[in-house]
Amino acid sequence: MVNPSLADVTRRLGGIAYGGDYNPEQWPREVWHEDMRLMREAGVNLVTVGVFSWSRIQPRPGAYDWRLLDEVLDLLHEHGIAVDLATPTAAPPPWFTRQHPDARPVTVSGSRLAHGSRQVFCPSSPAYAQAADDLVTALATRYGSHPALAMWHVHNEWGNHNALCYCDTSAAAFRTWLQERYKTLEALNEAWGTDFWSQRYGDWEEIDPPRDTTAFRNPGQELDYRRFSSDALLARHAEESAILRRLAPQVPLTTNVMGTLEKKIDGYAFAATCDVVSVDHYLPAADPDAHIDLALNADLARGMAAGRPWLLMEHSTSAVNWQGVNVAKRPGETRRNSLTHLARGADGLMFFQWRQSRAGAEKWHSAMLPHAGTDGRVWKEVKALGSELAALREVTGTRVRGDVAILFDWHGWWALELAARPSDTLSYLDAVRDWYEALWRLNITCDLVPPGADLSGYRAVLAPSLYLLSDGDAENLTRYVDQGGHLAVGCFSGVVDEYDRVHLGGYPGALRDVLGLVVDEYLPLRSGEAARLEDGSYARHWAERVEPRGCTPELRFADTPDGGPARGGPAVTRHTYGRGTAWYAACRLPMNTLGKLLRTLCAEAGATPVVDAPPGLEAVRRSGEPHDYLFLINHTEEAIRLPVTGVALAGAHVTDGQAAVPPGGVVVIREELASTPADPRPGTRHSPQGAST
Ligand code: GAL
Repeated sequence: MVNPSLADVTRRLGGIAYGGDYNPEQWPREVWHEDMRLMREAGVNLVTVGVFSWSRIQPRPGAYDWRLLDEVLDLLHEHGIAVDLATPTAAPPPWFTRQHPDARPVTVSGSRLAHGSRQVFCPSSPAYAQAADDLVTALATRYGSHPALAMWHVHNEWGNHNALCYCDTSAAAFRTWLQERYKTLEALNEAWGTDFWSQRYGDWEEIDPPRDTTAFRNPGQELDYRRFSSDALLARHAEESAILRRLAPQVPLTTNVMGTLEKKIDGYAFAATCDVVSVDHYLPAADPDAHIDLALNADLARGMAAGRPWLLMEHSTSAVNWQGVNVAKRPGETRRNSLTHLARGADGLMFFQWRQSRAGAEKWHSAMLPHAGTDGRVWKEVKALGSELAALREVTGTRVRGDVAILFDWHGWWALELAARPSDTLSYLDAVRDWYEALWRLNITCDLVPPGADLSGYRAVLAPSLYLLSDGDAENLTRYVDQGGHLAVGCFSGVVDEYDRVHLGGYPGALRDVLGLVVDEYLPLRSGEAARLEDGSYARHWAERVEPRGCTPELRFADTPDGGPARGGPAVTRHTYGRGTAWYAACRLPMNTLGKLLRTLCAEAGATPVVDAPPGLEAVRRSGEPHDYLFLINHTEEAIRLPVTGVALAGAHVTDGQAAVPPGGVVVIREELASTPADPRPGTRHSPQGAST
């Protein structure tokens, strides 16, 4: 049997999925009828139901009450709205906690958390597992063949609030996980370097989670605890998924992962188990360039989906309520955000939530239907977006192809940010964001993929601060270059193995051959200190003393007193290795300098911008048969005119071969494929063997 997929959902919907979380249990029945009418008015075709309904569905142990879901699912079906039915396991009801007080999670300092929020459960609790599995079985038995059911939504944002639990049950589960991983205590002692500080274990029972202690915890233990915690939730996810697949194998299944908003779980691992990859994204309000974070996360979603279309399960119509100052979106911003996700491969755009809550912890979170009802900007924009997406339905199923891969790795993130590093100013996300932003400003499309991914189809590969690199993944990068690839590596990469043990023999042990250099010393900069580069720019936070072993320095730290601790030494190097090229940046390069490096590298690798556009115009292409679709997103205050070949489906008209993209606007052009026969389309993957060298 072919696995169900997002294509099954969009085929059934007749185009792009549009809707949000629908929580009718918060409202009296009369309101549900109004909801149906307004959903239709807004063009909503898919809603997530039941995500936090456990206490309604099962008001007491063993007693199910299906009245609400029966009625709501029938009502939605009558109105032609499909259902993404959630397993409501992310919010165990009060009776569960009362019955199983030991199932509550425990913090690193040993306090057991109280009931009163959501995800109040220990991921390893057998009582929780039993209760959740019973509930999921009952739900799937009742609704597995309901005509409204289009997709299963497993749990909600696994690990958002409770990923790291330090209770005794978790401790026992951790020991079992370690026994499976290491088989012998000897291997564990070796991996964790337990001879340091007399930590050698003689019995599995001596091992605890890395709870609060006197000084630094063992980093290998901490890293494994992260892995174990992610795996414990993954096991729960797998169990729920198995029940749903057994009882309703025809229904595609998803869970909403959170991209870079969630450090604690390995998003790739969860996405790999789903028929439909879906993600949530919320703009970091304090970031004036939050649209770049959005684009990065959309490209990561596509990476998690191995290039296939994916679903944006949640974003917001305006402000959220959990960021301190919760900035409202400006007019047109929701459209711009939504169409950017669409441009980068989403086949569905959903919001948290349909109707803004009147009470409860999220009443100040925006929704598709605000407190004021249908008066006001938000509703108007929601309605307009619904009809625009209907007009863009032909985009569904087309693919975005990244020419470049940025390596992104949760394990590397965990490791880089453990305690007791050379500098805590090196943040993994900052490094990834820098490199992504430089590429974004060049309008070169990239996928974010794990370091073990098949890289052979990418013209260039970038590895920002990939501190943790296993021998196997290092081999993957080396082979890529050897066979003709173009690799650029950011500072403090390839330093430790998967156990956080240093690769010996000169830094960066895992990559020094391919890079043709040795780093003699890592030289973090004091806060406020900067190291001048030869091009007149300044690097902050970090510098390294690099000794070339075959590489050519392309840019140096200035040989003046303000050149910093590595003055006069290489800051950017380049090395020919096999049939390819490997670059290294020995500091956190300022944006302009990084941009220049990536422009050179991409030009040599044949990775071209989607279009030649002025700064502030974001361009992405979705490719398909018989058309390509060019998305032009204007982040500036001025209209931008651009030559295009095709017709505008949204946002403007094409006149005299030119599209005018309004300030803050988005234009979607249906391109004629016949217009570019001789010139391989940017974004078309090829093997690096064929790349010009
Ligand atoms: C998500 C969550 C939703 C809602 C939303 C608010 O993390 O899945 O249930 O809380 O945040 O932004």
